[in-house]
This record gives sequence, C-alpha cells and structure tokens, in this order.
Amino acid sequence: MSATARSEVRVALDVYPTPAWCVHRLLEQVELPGGHWCEPCAGDGAILSAVRDVRGDVTWSAVEIRPECRAALEARGAATQVADALSCPWRLGPGPLVIVLTNPPYSLAEAFLAKALREARTVAFLLRLDFLGSERRARLLRATPPDVYVLPNRPSFVAGKTDNCEYAWLVWGQPRDRAHGRIAVLPPTERAIRRLRQPITEMSHVV
Ligand SMILES: C[S@@+](CC[C@H](N)C(=O)[O-])C[C@H]1O[C@@H](n2cnc3c(N)ncnc32)[C@H](O)[C@@H]1O
Repeated sequence: MSATARSEVRVALDVYPTPAWCVHRLLEQVELPGGHWCEPCAGDGAILSAVRDVRGDVTWSAVEIRPECRAALEARGAATQVADALSCPWRLGPGPLVIVLTNPPYSLAEAFLAKALREARTVAFLLRLDFLGSERRARLLRATPPDVYVLPNRPSFVAGKTDNCEYAWLVWGQPRDRAHGRIAVLPPTERAIRRLRQPITEMSHVV
C-alpha cells in the first residue's frame, strides 16, 4: 500500500493512538475496579499498554477492525478479535466485562458509546470536549450524564501535532439515570512526558 493510500485508510478509520500520559492521568484520579476490561477499537493497544504501566489486575478483550493490529494486541495478552466492533461481541474472555475503556473513532463515537453502555457497568471514553455540546446528543447526555475529567494539556495524536481541540475523559458509572455528573480538571502533564513517543516498532504500520 502506498503512503498516500495508508494515509487515506488512517483518516477513514480515525487511527490516532492515545498517548500513555492521558491514560495515566485518568487512572490516578479515578478508582476503577480490576478485572476483565474491554478496548473495542484497540488499534495497536496503546491504551492496554498504558494501563499495564500502572495496573497489574486487568485482563483484556480487544476488538479492532484493522487486521494488522492483531499481533500487537495478542502480544499484550489480550483476547483479540479482528472485526467491526459495532457488529460483534465485545466480551472475548471469561467473566463479565467490568469496564469499557477507549478512545473511539470520533465519527462513530455515539454508536460505540451506545453499545458500551450496554456492555459494561463502567465506561470511560476519551473524547473532544465539544462532544458534550450537541443538540443531537442532548437526549442521551441528559438521560445518562457522565463524569467529566478534563485534560488540561492537549494530546498530540500525530507526530507532535495537536488538533486544536480540548479533550476529556467522559466516565459513566452507576447509576446511569442520575441528575448530573461531576466535573474535575486532571493535573497537568510535563511537556517532556508529553513528548515521549511510543517505540517506533509499535507504530510501524501507522503512517
Ligand atoms: C482514534 S483510534 C484509537 C485507537 C485506540 N483506541 C487508542 O486509543 O490508541 C480509533 C481506532 O478505531 C479503529 N476502528 C475504526 N472503526 C472501527 C470499527 N468499526 N470497529 C473496530 N475498530 C474500529 C481504528 O482502526 C483505530 O485503530
């Protein structure tokens, strides 16, 4: 595949691996139970890897639509399925899914969220803050308001560049039908940490 064609696939599928520090800030702030977690659009497993940095009590089901990601996900010990996550089961290991934790393709975020809320008691999505300000999503967000953990630094998803958007972790726990969620600003992350890249071997098939 040419570099241009790979770029088109990347853009079409919204291939933007999550920097580890974004996950670390969430896990420092929010107590999440150990057990079997799901990453339903797992890419190379950047989130799995970041969780493993700080947690030893998590096993994974991972779904990803790009077949070239299978080896990296299996190498991280995840029960892995290469499929369209919107039309396949998410629980691939034993026991119930405790948490769905992901950075979804933004264009499909609502569909992923609707399924995630059915699959697990706790759901944490990394999303642009403007996901919250939408007439189309108002009914869902009013009926099941998330807790909002704002990242005070913009993540760089591609080669040191940011996309001029603010991001937050939106977390849905129990009960879902409460009046409102909480909002907190996560601690800042040092620039030197934010500039750390994943090892090049893990990124080799990403343009
Ligand atoms: C924004 S990237 C994030 C990757 C990973 N969740 C992370 O945080 O590093 C979105 C990922 O969703 C995958 N994807 C897009 N559509 C999908 C679908 N229908 N089913 C499963 N994976 C999908 C893409 O291939 C890409 O790896």
